[in-house]
Amino acid sequence: MAARLKKTVVLVGMMGAGKSAIGTGLSKRLGVPFRDSDAEIELAADRTIAEIFERDGEAFFRDRESEVISRLLDGRPAILSTGGGAFLAERNRRMIHERGVSILLKADVELLWNRVKHKTNRPLLRTPNPRATLEAIYAERAPIYAKADLAVQARSEYAISEMVEQVVKAL
Ligand code: S3P
Repeated sequence: MAARLKKTVVLVGMMGAGKSAIGTGLSKRLGVPFRDSDAEIELAADRTIAEIFERDGEAFFRDRESEVISRLLDGRPAILSTGGGAFLAERNRRMIHERGVSILLKADVELLWNRVKHKTNRPLLRTPNPRATLEAIYAERAPIYAKADLAVQARSEYAISEMVEQVVKAL
């Protein structure tokens, strides 16, 4: 199976869509390494994403995100989970399109909200009404996410293993 993977598979989609969980499962299923752009950024900066947003600002974070994605796309084929905003920048979409294959993990806003509402690690949702913020981000991003090469639908009743098989089939 690993020999089949010629390009890095880049998982894109909203926070809470399950990119990290499905990415980890896919990497085991396909026998290729798993990479996570947020984790790489945190490692290099020795700070959490929330701290980076707070201290250095979102623009700084987005530049680090582009650098990390570019570096990881230069490596051997892998499964790369990206932060929810990564696919919005044209420069990122271009390099992902040229050097990888993008898969959108789609999920409805109800599912996303149920997964993120008790977490405190998403700086973009630190607003007076985080649910409304999530909905606004979702609406704004949907047309851009639709530019991904392939898409699979996440549902609360699907186990991670089922999602992994859906992605494998889509590849
Ligand atoms: C972001 C999503 C986060 C993280 C950062 C910004 C976004 O990643 O990159 O907080 O813009 O949607 P997850 O999608 O893994 O939560």
